[in-house]
Amino acid sequence: MSIKLIDIIAGARPNFMKIAPIITELEKEINNGVEIRFRLIHTGQHYDKKMSSDFFSQLGIPTPHFNLNSGSGSQAEQTSKIMIRYEEILLKEPSCLCIVVGDVTSTMACSIVAKKMNIKVAHVEAGLRSYDESMPEEINRIVTDSISDFFFTTSKNANKNLIKSGFKKSQIFFVGNTMIDTLNSQMKNSIKPYFWDKENLRINNYFVLTLHRPSNVDSEVHLSNILFEILKNTKDLKVIFPVHPRTLKKLTNIGLNNKNLILVEPQSYLEFIYLIKNAKAVITDSGGISEETTILNIPCLTLRNSTERPETCEIGTNILIGNDFNLLATSILRIFENKWKKGKKPMYWDGKASKRIVEHLLNDILNLKPTQ
Ligand code: UD1
Repeated sequence: MSIKLIDIIAGARPNFMKIAPIITELEKEINNGVEIRFRLIHTGQHYDKKMSSDFFSQLGIPTPHFNLNSGSGSQAEQTSKIMIRYEEILLKEPSCLCIVVGDVTSTMACSIVAKKMNIKVAHVEAGLRSYDESMPEEINRIVTDSISDFFFTTSKNANKNLIKSGFKKSQIFFVGNTMIDTLNSQMKNSIKPYFWDKENLRINNYFVLTLHRPSNVDSEVHLSNILFEILKNTKDLKVIFPVHPRTLKKLTNIGLNNKNLILVEPQSYLEFIYLIKNAKAVITDSGGISEETTILNIPCLTLRNSTERPETCEIGTNILIGNDFNLLATSILRIFENKWKKGKKPMYWDGKASKRIVEHLLNDILNLKPTQ
């Protein structure tokens, strides 16, 4: 029997912590003699050191076999570059399975290419829906899921969404959350950021803020209103704001100057988890961070009207603030009064999701029984 070749696609920052533990588990099986080989394909959607290579080194992800260097550009430009370049790779040597993760442009682009070449697609973190089609990620999720053959899910809600879309139970594997695998395994390695002492940060005496969604950052007026309202309510505590490149372009024009707003570059993974685990609360428009704060039991205020991760609100520490500045003020007050809800762990967010994924890959998808 010939060795089976599978592709693993990663393109943007939130993908890297999702693929790292899957690769670790796969490598264990390969070392045990399982007849499988993988190619790691970095689409290059994120390319700055702080957005990409630092994550590879901190998480011990191997050097990609290919980098598609898709870089900046409109989403159609990025999608087309990724599609053309991934197709070239598959034409030279087709794989038998393409594994895509999350909901970024790279996820959708590679799933289309593989599927059109009759290569099976497995989607990790499948079935999430915000039901807000103004978000590019929602389109990416819908398109990717619509053509995927196998679905690895993080929640019961995701399973329901896929069943509702007409997929068969036999295609859906409820495995848990690979991002939490990484969080659990890396927490002991978390690193105090270089500005910790300089800014006099202590456990519970600062907020963390991240913003990158077009709906929050593309209008300078709206972005400056958000910052003003946050700073008005966080008393005299510092707000640590690791600034995403998209947001930086707008902030430079706003020219806001407030002694409590500490702008720092995007943080590498180990520094970022140190920051959030010790924060009083996190204010964000990210989906992934609301999962991490749920596990770390840190209050999370999400500046969005919807979430594709409802369990972070239903049983976790997250609430949706949308654009409601009154709700923002009362929520921050509740945090100061120590009245925030306690989070519980969603099912299978236990650090073993990647192990389950690899077991299903070998046993149910590629029919390669691991050697004992
Ligand atoms: C992308 C994902 C989003 C994810 C986010 C995490 C899509 C549609 N969106 O959004 O789901 O939450 O990543 O960060 O895939 N840029 C740099 N350096 C980089 C990367 C980007 O300067 O390393 C700049 C680009 O030039 C562009 C802007 O940042 O102007 C946005 O980058 P892009 O990858 O298009 O989308 P994100 O907003 O990062």
